[in-house]
Amino acid sequence: MSNRTKIVKAVIPAAGLGTRMLPATKAVPKEMLPVAGKPLIQYAVEEAAASGIDTVILVIRGNKSLIQEHFAPGHDLKSRFYQQGLNKSPDCLCPDSKPINIKYVQQESPLGLAHAISCAQPLVGDEPFVVLLPDVIMLTHEPVTSQLIRTHAEVGGSVIAIREVEPQDVKRFGIVQLQGPAVSSPRGPLRITGLIEKPSSERAPSRFGVFGRYLLEPSIWNVIAQTHADPRGEVQLTDALSTLCQQASLFGVCFDGWHYDAGDRMGYLQANIELSLEDPHLREPLLHYLSGIASSQSASKFLAQPSGGRSQVLTSQPGDSSSRKL
Ligand code: UTP
Repeated sequence: MSNRTKIVKAVIPAAGLGTRMLPATKAVPKEMLPVAGKPLIQYAVEEAAASGIDTVILVIRGNKSLIQEHFAPGHDLKSRFYQQGLNKSPDCLCPDSKPINIKYVQQESPLGLAHAISCAQPLVGDEPFVVLLPDVIMLTHEPVTSQLIRTHAEVGGSVIAIREVEPQDVKRFGIVQLQGPAVSSPRGPLRITGLIEKPSSERAPSRFGVFGRYLLEPSIWNVIAQTHADPRGEVQLTDALSTLCQQASLFGVCFDGWHYDAGDRMGYLQANIELSLEDPHLREPLLHYLSGIASSQSASKFLAQPSGGRSQVLTSQPGDSSSRKL
C-alpha cells in the first residue's frame, strides 16, 4: 500500500474559445455541446467521479455561465416532474453516484491551457491533482483518470495519458520523447524526457501523442509561472511539461480503451454517432437510418443540385421516422 497523497481534486478547463466549432460555439461554450444527448463536460465530470475524485474545479469564462446552470440543482423541473407523477430527475449527475463537490474559477481571457490550469491553483493548493480536457471523451473499462491515479500510486511523479498515433497524425498532437527505444503497445509507465507540440513527422521524437488526461505534482505551478507564452500569446501545457520533465519525473501511460477528440467537427460527429449507437433505444433505428443513407445517398444528391431547394422540405420515405427541412 502506497503512502502517497490521495488524489481527490480534478481541474477541468472549459474557458477556451472553441474556434474549431464555430459558429456553434459563438454563444454556447464548446463544453456544453451535446454528444449523444449529454454535454461534453458531463462526460469529464463523470469520469472524474468514477475515478474517486471528490472535488472538481471547472475553469470557466464570463460571469453567466451555462456550465454553472447545467450543474445547478434543477428545482423547478424537479417539482414539475413530481406534480406530473414522473419518476425522473432533471439533475445531470447520476443520483446513485458519490456526491461530488463542483467549484468554479474564472479565466478572464483565454491565454492558453497551462494558464487556465494555473487559475485553479488557489483551489487546488499544494497537492497532486488531475486535469481532464472535456473535449476528449474516453470510452474505457477503467476510467483513464483512474489508470493515471493507479500508476501514480505505484511510481510517483507526474503521469500523463499517451497513445501511439499514425505517422500522418503526429502533426495534430503534442508528441513525447521517451527514454530508451520506443516499443509498440508498451506495458507499464514510460519515462518522458521531452515534448513537442504538433511536430512535423520528420521532427517527431516518437509516435506517442498526449491525450487530454494528466496527473500533475504541485511542482507544475512554478513551472507554469515560468513558461513563456507562445507567439499567439498562449501559455501551453506542452511547453510547461517539457520543462517539468527536465526537473522531475514525468511518466506516460499508454491507456487502454477508445477516445474521441470531440473538439473538432469530424471527431464530434464520430462521437455522436458511435456513442448514440451505444444507446439501446437508438441503436437499431440509427443503424437502419445510416445503412439507408449509405446505400441511397439521396440527401447528398439533393444538396448537390445548383439552387438546391434548400428551403424545401425533404419528405419522408416509407420507413423513415421524420422529415427534415433544410
Ligand atoms: P482546446 O485547444 O481544445 O480548446 O483546449 P479551444 O482553444 O477552446 O478550441 P479551439 O482550438 O479554439 O477550437 C482544450 C481545453 O482547454 C480549455 C478549452 O476550453 C478546452 O476544454 N482551454 C483552452 C481553456 O480553458 N482556456 C484556454 O485559454 C485554452
